[in-house]
Amino acid sequence: MNLNERDRARVWHPYTQMLTQPPLLPIVRGEGVYLYTEDGRRILDGISSWWVNIHGHSHPKLNAALAAQAQEIEHVIFAGCTHRPAVELAERLVEVMPPGLNRVFYSDNGSTAVEAAIKMAVQYWRNRGEPQHSGLITLHHAYHGDTVGAMSASEDSVFTRAFTPLLFPVERAYAPYCYRCPLGLKRETCGIDCLGDLERCLEEHGERTAAVLIEPMLQGAGGMIVWPAEFLGGVRRLCDRYGVLLIADEVLTGFGRTGRMFACEHAQVTPDILCLSKALTAGYLPLGVTAATDAIYEAFLSTDRGQTFFHGHSYTANPLACAVAIASLDLFRENHVLARVARLEQQMRAGLEPLRSLPRVGDVRVIGGVGVVELAGDSGYLADIGTRLGAAFLERNLLLRPLGNIVYFMPPYAITDAETQWALAQIGDVLDS
Ligand SMILES: Cc1ncc(COP(=O)(O)O)c(C=O)c1O
Repeated sequence: MNLNERDRARVWHPYTQMLTQPPLLPIVRGEGVYLYTEDGRRILDGISSWWVNIHGHSHPKLNAALAAQAQEIEHVIFAGCTHRPAVELAERLVEVMPPGLNRVFYSDNGSTAVEAAIKMAVQYWRNRGEPQHSGLITLHHAYHGDTVGAMSASEDSVFTRAFTPLLFPVERAYAPYCYRCPLGLKRETCGIDCLGDLERCLEEHGERTAAVLIEPMLQGAGGMIVWPAEFLGGVRRLCDRYGVLLIADEVLTGFGRTGRMFACEHAQVTPDILCLSKALTAGYLPLGVTAATDAIYEAFLSTDRGQTFFHGHSYTANPLACAVAIASLDLFRENHVLARVARLEQQMRAGLEPLRSLPRVGDVRVIGGVGVVELAGDSGYLADIGTRLGAAFLERNLLLRPLGNIVYFMPPYAITDAETQWALAQIGDVLDS
């Protein structure tokens, strides 16, 4: 039996209707931006393997860091023990994260980074003797992960609907989705009026709210929605005015994806709590970080053990993952990675903006290393066009997974100019046809 036949007999894949799924890509090797299949195809990874890869696949320096760490200690319980990779990574992160985020709490993926953030925010208020601050305000089109808390915070969608009875209620405010403006306005002439909905929410529910949770600058799975930076600055000001915490979920946007090391930098915002994962380990291993300010951390210091943050996972702060994350931060410096992302952004703009003239194209959005083409008409993850387009790109050896009518290109930053040009040409040709 080949790999697909053996897979079919035993494996259950994520987000996959196993009854109708066509044969899977049997990947045997990766190098740079390319994935190699069992049957000899070379496919360009245009979605960074679910938005995690940044320096390219099987990078020699990251491979070496992983191998070296495996010789020292592969894993150890992180309650009652510590280790060099976890401490050094925390020190390095504090150097690069928005100023004021001085504490690093580890977990093991993006959803758990968000779960920890929600629980941290709620317990912060409880420890301070204000337990009425227990609710969440999130935004429409949000996606924060697939665990129950993260799903509750996410937009009601095909991802969450089957689980509605399990979810806790949250308040939802408008997102600045300019192409489909909730107020019917135009970005060129509006005054970021959609922020008024968050203000209304805070006015009504602020006293009962622990935190506002956002994906700054780029809402990912909910539609690759690029924000005006003024909205982000406005969210911080409103949180301060109404005395609630701000949680920034930078699981997708962290580590350069929007052109800055962290998306919060687009409006010089420091959140009270910051969630990181995905590119944290350059796509090598699962690791989550929930970073907090001193004020949050200090609210948990007490002789009353009931004020402890009772949250953890078996693989919290895995040394192998931490070692790769440190090596990835080294690569940022050595290879001037943010300058590379700026160049990628220019190329994306030049390649995608002309597609606006195609009849089915509704909007083009570019931020950092992410280029988005939204098709007009039917929207939503299940829009059939997404699957058809994905198959057409794959025929040309370009791996993209459109979110329904939203096509996006998010390659590892290690992609060369020529490879970018090639991929953008494929996107143009497929959309044109
Ligand atoms: C903004 C955001 N938050 C959280 C998550 C969940 O991360 P994970 O898939 O590692 O659980 C994702 C995943 O796509 C995400 O984009």
